[in-house]
Amino acid sequence: MKTAEIGTHIDQAAELLKSGQLVAIPTETVYGLAGNALDEKAILEIFKVKNRPKFDPLIAHTNHLDKVSDYLEEIPKQARKLAEAYWPGPLTILLKKKKTFPDLLTSGLPEVAIRIPNHPLTLELLSKLDFPLAAPSANPFGYVSPTTARHVAQQLGAHIPYILDGGSCTIGIESTIVGFDENEEPIVYRLGGMRLEDIEQVTGSVSVNLNRSSNPKAPGMLKSHYAPNKRLIIGDVKQLVVANQHHNTGIITFSEKLINFDPSKQIILSPQGSLDEAASQLFAALRRMDEIDVDLIITEKFPDEGLGKAINDRLKRASTG
Ligand code: TXA
Ligand code: MG
Repeated sequence: MKTAEIGTHIDQAAELLKSGQLVAIPTETVYGLAGNALDEKAILEIFKVKNRPKFDPLIAHTNHLDKVSDYLEEIPKQARKLAEAYWPGPLTILLKKKKTFPDLLTSGLPEVAIRIPNHPLTLELLSKLDFPLAAPSANPFGYVSPTTARHVAQQLGAHIPYILDGGSCTIGIESTIVGFDENEEPIVYRLGGMRLEDIEQVTGSVSVNLNRSSNPKAPGMLKSHYAPNKRLIIGDVKQLVVANQHHNTGIITFSEKLINFDPSKQIILSPQGSLDEAASQLFAALRRMDEIDVDLIITEKFPDEGLGKAINDRLKRASTG
């Protein structure tokens, strides 16, 4: 079977993208499945390879806001301030688009999601292109996002020619998505790798709306998403382990080690208790649980602060169904 080449050749990746093909790219959050964001054919191919419904819009990645500003109606002052403070970084901003961005990219929505990712290989790649890159997370629709080139190869390797290998993603959880209402008040639509506290430092208090009504079906906002194949439950780990003794259980904890529990079926995301570290390990842990011999994943609620909020959001979505 044909499978993607994995490497660090930026020129090769650039040539493939210029010819309308798809390439998986590393970012600091998760790996993306990239194609020319101005080319409907490339966008269609992204939806196809991911098996993603067309009502779920894509994020356009660039290395400089100036490169896409001609394709945008306006950039609110608060948006510009956020961009200046945190780009490149794990923050996606919704901005009113002009026709240059195909409606297919935004699922017909008037705004386009824009992000400058913070990864040296991908920034160099973007600097060689005169178009932005549409890049959803490089996983089949509904599954856990990939944080290594190997994760991408395992699932999409047969469908794309090249994976640009940038190592393990340092943040490991998708970008935070922020938009602005008619009064230029910031609204967070997806919790992610940028802490709410950091956004508020720039904009003042933000509201959070994880069930956007204008496009209620857009995943990330869909309940069952970011989900491993195995059933996952959240609660007091020790109690749940006892209550589920008839199951072959795997556990994922924040920092605590369970004694008298098979260490090969136990993943501690951050023994030192760092939420940033836990976030960077979360998706690899969920994938690992799918690989090993367990039939139930037990995990716990994380502290509701910093990246703990995004971790809890992902776990909740993974636990539905
Ligand atoms: O960290 C990330 O954001 C990664 C990396 C590759 O950059 N990308 C990513 O893309 O997570 P994806 O497609 O898996 O998630 C994008 C989500 C959509 O599911 C949707 O919820 C939201 O972004 N989105 C995109 N465009 C939007 C728009 N115009 N209005 C509202 N939400 C939008
Ligand atoms: Mg995704």
